[in-house]
This record gives sequence, C-alpha cells and structure tokens, in this order.
Amino acid sequence: MTHKSPAFHLDTRLVRASSEVDGSTGAIAPPLYLSTTFEHGPEGESLHGFTYVRHSNPNQVKLEAALADIEGGESCLVYASGLAAAASFLQGLSVGGHVVLQRDVYYGVRQIAHRYLARWGLSFTEVDCRDLDAVASAMRPETCLLWVESPTNPLMHVVDLSALADLAHGQGAELLVDGTFASPALQRPLTSGADVVLHSTTKYLGGHSDVQGGALILASAARHDEALRESRSVLGNVSSPFNDWLILRGLRTLGCRMERHAANAQRVAEGLAAHPGVQEVFYPGLPGHPGHAIARRQMSAFGGMLSFTVVGGRQAAVALASRLRLFSNATSLGGVESLLEHRASMEGPESTTPANLLRVSVGLEHPEDLLADLRQALDG
Ligand SMILES: Cc1ncc(COP(=O)(O)O)c(C=O)c1O
Repeated sequence: MTHKSPAFHLDTRLVRASSEVDGSTGAIAPPLYLSTTFEHGPEGESLHGFTYVRHSNPNQVKLEAALADIEGGESCLVYASGLAAAASFLQGLSVGGHVVLQRDVYYGVRQIAHRYLARWGLSFTEVDCRDLDAVASAMRPETCLLWVESPTNPLMHVVDLSALADLAHGQGAELLVDGTFASPALQRPLTSGADVVLHSTTKYLGGHSDVQGGALILASAARHDEALRESRSVLGNVSSPFNDWLILRGLRTLGCRMERHAANAQRVAEGLAAHPGVQEVFYPGLPGHPGHAIARRQMSAFGGMLSFTVVGGRQAAVALASRLRLFSNATSLGGVESLLEHRASMEGPESTTPANLLRVSVGLEHPEDLLADLRQALDG
C-alpha cells in the first residue's frame, strides 16, 4: 500500500512519508544504506538502479519522493545544505539573467547574491516584496526569477505568494519561495502558484539540531530537473545518505512538532508584547502584524519563529541574552529546544538587522517556562 494517496490528510502523509514496509526484511523503519558504491555489470550497466553515491542512492531517492509528495511537486532534489540548494539553483540560471530578490531574506542568500551572482553572469535587484508595485517596477525583460522568503529571517515579513506568482508569471519569470520558516507542514507554496520551493532541511524538517541539508522542490520536472540533477552529480554538492535518513525521520513527526512550535510561539509572542521592556514583537500570529491577514490565508498556523526589539538598544538586547537560563544562546532554528540570538552580531558587519533585535526559535518546552525565562531576563 502506498501512503501517497491524496485521500489521506497531510498529517498522515507526513507520518507515513516514504515508509513502505521494506520488501526484503519487513523492516518498518526505513533502512539506511551507507554503501557508496553499487554492483553493476561488466561494462558499467546499472543492475539495481544505483551506481555511485554521488549520482544517486536509496536514502536520497526515498527522501526526495517524500518531499515532492508532501509539497505537491513533480520532483525534488536534496543537497548538502540549504545554501548548497540555493547556490545550485542560482548557478543553473542562464547567463545574462536578472533576479528580483526580496530585501529581508536569510543573510546567507544575500551573501551569495552580493558576492557571487555577478561572477555567474547574473544581476539582481533587492526589493521589499510586500510592495507589489515595487516588485512590478523592478522586473525587467531579462528577469527570470523572483526569489522570496515567507516569513522572512529575521524580520518575519510575510509576502503574498499568489499575487507574486501571478506577477512573476506575467513577466515570464519563475517564483522561488524559501519556505524554511514555515515548513511544508504549515505552508505549501506550490499550491499558491510558486514554481520552486527551497528548504533548509537543517531546520524544522530535521527538527533536532543534528543534521544539515537542503531541498529544492519543483512544481514541474520539465524545466530544471535534468540540469540540476546533472550539475549536482558533477559538482558534488550532495547530501550524505545518513543525513537523508535523519531528515526523512524528522519529516515523520513534523506535523505534530509544528503544531506545538506554533502554539508555543503564539503564547510567547503575546507574553512578550505585553512586557514594557519590549519595543515591538514580530510574529505573524499577532493580529497587529502587517502580514497577519495574508499569513492566515496562506499558512495553516503561524510557525515557531519570532523576533522582537528591546527597549534600551543593542546593549539592553545583549544584556537580556546574557541573563537567559532556559533558552540557549545559539544560531539556527527549528529544533526541539528553544534558542535565542542577537541577530546583528551573528550576521556581522554586513547586517541590516536592527541592533536591538533578538531572534527566537521557540522550541517544544512548556510555554510558561519559556515566558518565565524571558521575563526574568527582561526584568534584569
Ligand atoms: C530561511 C533560510 N534559508 C536558508 C538557510 C540556509 O540553510 P543551511 O544553513 O542549511 O545552509 C537558512 C539558514 O539559517 C535559513 O534560515
């Protein structure tokens, strides 16, 4: 029996993703194949569908099938990291192309744009994609890609994915959505008309802060699948079978983890918003968030990430971070444990993030314990 039937709810498909009982052993948990090489015929003929780990391998195939199914895409390619997926897609664009890049995207993607796109024969324009008129004016005849993130890292901007898909397609461009913060449990951009979804699977998909990976899910396999598969195999930015196995394991609990992450984040956001030491809370689940109505439409819950600015500037924000007892000061996100970071310090001199902003990855602990820790740190 396959678990891909659209008749099953998303939660069921997540739990049973690529988890068919192993035909040769009856194993319920998916087997892990660490072999780097596979038997072939005397002239290199493939006998079992695999030849060498860099070209393709059983755990990669399983994870890709699961992610394509969950996102509703025709194909998926997984990579060594989220940025490897991002760089691979951008490197595959035709020389001379122009990219419209949302202004507040993950700083690593901005670094790729600023340091490498010109070397790859591409140009780009950074735009606040919450302003559809600004996006329309930034589009040029050679624009081939509109790159957005929703919600964004770290300012939690929410953009209208359907409107942006229409805009991009009207100009002959494609829409890529980095959906890392929402995860496919809460937002599936292909259903809003996007052409490509990117995930850092290091985050919610892995879910336990112990694995790195990235994924591209393509609405249509016709456009990029073959070229991306070839470049991944030739350039070697593949994920390891063990990482693919861990990410598939994470996918199976994603639905219930995201429900709790979102419920906890909502409670933490509301508690922070009521504290006099907090200047502003950025969380799309708050009714006052400028993207709240759009987020309600395109997400099934508002996610586990939030950020907030602290009264008293940079010094007060850093002091708060130093007083935390339960939260860990650490970068990254999407694990079961709650993390907080002074984002501008992490991003370094090129950062455009407000100096008094703290970014929070709300974990799965009890929300009142999390709020109590933040309150004692705020109260000093
Ligand atoms: C939204 C977003 N996209 C992409 C990435 C890059 O992912 P990785 O660290 O797996 O390369 C990150 C990393 O934090 C991210 O937050």
